[in-house]
Amino acid sequence: MFKKKVVVIVFLVILASCQSDKENKTFKNDKIEVLIKKMTLEEKVGQMTQLTLKKFYKKGKLNKDLLIKYTQTTPIGSVLNTPGRPLSISEWHELISEIQDNCLASRMKIPMLYGIDAIHGATYTKDAVLFPHNIGLAATRNVELVKKTAEITAKEVRASGIRWNFDPVLGVGRQPLWSRFEETFGEDVLLVTEFGSGAIKGYEGDDLKSINNVSSCMKHFIGYSVPQSGKDRTPAYITAQQLEEVFMPSFKKAVASGASTVMINSGSLNGIPVHINKELITDLLKNKWGFKGLVVTDWEDILYLYKEHHVAKNNKEAVKMAINAGIDMSMVPMNMTFYDDLIALVNQGEVSMERIDDAVRRILKVKMDLGLFDNPYPEKEAIKNFGKKEYRDIALQAARESMTLLKNDSLQNKAVLPLKKNSKVLISGPAANSLASLHGSWSYSWQGDKEALFPESTLTIKEAIQNKIGASNVSCISSSKFEKVTKKELKLLRQKAKNVDFIVLCLGENSYAETPGNIDDLTLSRDQIELAKVAIETNKPIVLVLTEGRPRIISEIVSGIDAVLLAYRPSSQGANAIADILFGDYNPNGVLPFSYPKHTGNLLTYDAPIRNTETFNPQWEFGYGLSYTNFKSSNLKLSTKTLKGDEKLKVTIEVMNEGDFDGELAVDLFVRDKVASVIPPMKKLRKFKKVFLKKGELKLVEFELTKNDLSFVNSDLERVTENGSFVIEILGEKVSFEYLNN
Ligand code: BGC
Repeated sequence: MFKKKVVVIVFLVILASCQSDKENKTFKNDKIEVLIKKMTLEEKVGQMTQLTLKKFYKKGKLNKDLLIKYTQTTPIGSVLNTPGRPLSISEWHELISEIQDNCLASRMKIPMLYGIDAIHGATYTKDAVLFPHNIGLAATRNVELVKKTAEITAKEVRASGIRWNFDPVLGVGRQPLWSRFEETFGEDVLLVTEFGSGAIKGYEGDDLKSINNVSSCMKHFIGYSVPQSGKDRTPAYITAQQLEEVFMPSFKKAVASGASTVMINSGSLNGIPVHINKELITDLLKNKWGFKGLVVTDWEDILYLYKEHHVAKNNKEAVKMAINAGIDMSMVPMNMTFYDDLIALVNQGEVSMERIDDAVRRILKVKMDLGLFDNPYPEKEAIKNFGKKEYRDIALQAARESMTLLKNDSLQNKAVLPLKKNSKVLISGPAANSLASLHGSWSYSWQGDKEALFPESTLTIKEAIQNKIGASNVSCISSSKFEKVTKKELKLLRQKAKNVDFIVLCLGENSYAETPGNIDDLTLSRDQIELAKVAIETNKPIVLVLTEGRPRIISEIVSGIDAVLLAYRPSSQGANAIADILFGDYNPNGVLPFSYPKHTGNLLTYDAPIRNTETFNPQWEFGYGLSYTNFKSSNLKLSTKTLKGDEKLKVTIEVMNEGDFDGELAVDLFVRDKVASVIPPMKKLRKFKKVFLKKGELKLVEFELTKNDLSFVNSDLERVTENGSFVIEILGEKVSFEYLNN
């Protein structure tokens, strides 16, 4: 008995010493606890409050009194946004230094956490490079490249003195009408999961203190990307099985890889606004998945709870619901109502001090991890990370790899594209001269439509083509109006077409972000369709270049068009990439990250449970994309015909470049589960990679699958792999095998 006691005491001593070791290692947390102990309720709630920068401005100028008010009198924890235009590096430094000076003069001296939407490059920094929007990046099938674009964004954001980036979007884009479709990595869960976590790695690196990194923000948790109406911030209805199967994996993986912050979906899911859904925010995200970071609302979303969703009768009730559901910080961001109401709620016992402390702990941890307590000021040595020439090269590579060639007919036995550099070309259509259309949302302004704010070096499609083949070979008619093409333009098009070899028709969408981008019809605007019809009537070969954030339907005109290049929103180097491809300086290799619809009434995804040509009839399928070279695949082989238990299945396929161009090839591996307890998709993407083949080169492409790559979420919401037959499909080749769980 005595011996036992001694053993227990020794064990406890050892345990205690291990714990104190652990505590030593997490010294930062001790520091946070000390701060929390000293803070008043007002100071704690202040940390949970985020305001927009304009609240610090009066008559267009940063106001000293307001600065003192929000950093010292009632200090807040975070600021977002710009004063309405992109700032230069030195303007950002001056602004943030002034804010931090004031924070350090406050009682608790807690630094400000500045957040920004740098969602495809440092949106709000003058002359920053912008990369293709996610929808185009997903077409590259090149996760490493996307990681690089995120690394550059992180460097340019941090060089601006900002350490928190509200990106990436991890919602799966399965509603093509949605105005934020371009911000998604497309309709497939694997693409979103892999590209999303690649982007997070690029932003956060291994150490948030480094001048190379920033905090990312997974968004928008969860279900935002499939509004039933297609309109922004409107209700989504997703079954529990689909939520687990399609919408959770990207967030789950991001949490597991240590993402530091998350933003909540403004809309509702199955009738409950996500901002008040404790089961999702606290029970699932924080407790079950172990998310240790900070949860921020989206813009005005607590207010939205009573003004739009009508689940609360006033602001105070809305604050209570959101905070008790697990929200840590409110992007209020226009006033201090959140602050006032939350203080009152705690004093009245409606929100516990534990909940407040948990929120503050998470906020202070992000600040500490980012090194703000060591040095809250913009880091001078980070400036050298801004505007490097190689960033443009990566932007060009990303734009080139995203471009997806959807059609390339033959004329007199020769493919239309690439065009000869001595061709006479007529460029027409509203996108020909539009920087906005090339860049889309969040491009030097929220809507991306203020062209005066773009760097002078940014080219339009017309300019890039002129540079490529000489201005004397190019004529252009373009009004940059996407909804209105005038009779005069049509007349000029007919006339000028007579003197050219080809027409390059630049159609698509103007830029838009969020609700202003709502549409009722996915068809390309009527006037652009008419313009295309007039072009077709000229009988000249037509190359259609589409700059658009979502697949606008073109089935009415597509048969009259000879070649179609989908450019998505390729951004800074987009025009150069388009010209490179049109004139053969680059061989296209992007493949669709979504099903391009043919009819407005048929918007199914490629992995819909039922699929035959009547129910699923897209213009172009998910994964489709042409090359200038001719890749031939053969010999799809498996290491075994029966995969057992946890064994690995090796899959190989030979690919030969039989054409006249070197080229990259995106290789998607799909699996079909022939019989399953939940209706199986006809096929599902399970692996993807990109390979480069010189002309004449033969390569063996290899993949490895495990039972996890055959799994799905069953009706009990468990991820399972059921015994039975499976079919693997790569580049149109198919082979089957059996899975047997021991
Ligand atoms: C958007 C978010 C964005 C936030 C801050 C909101 O309107 O939905 O994605 O991060 O504004 O600008």
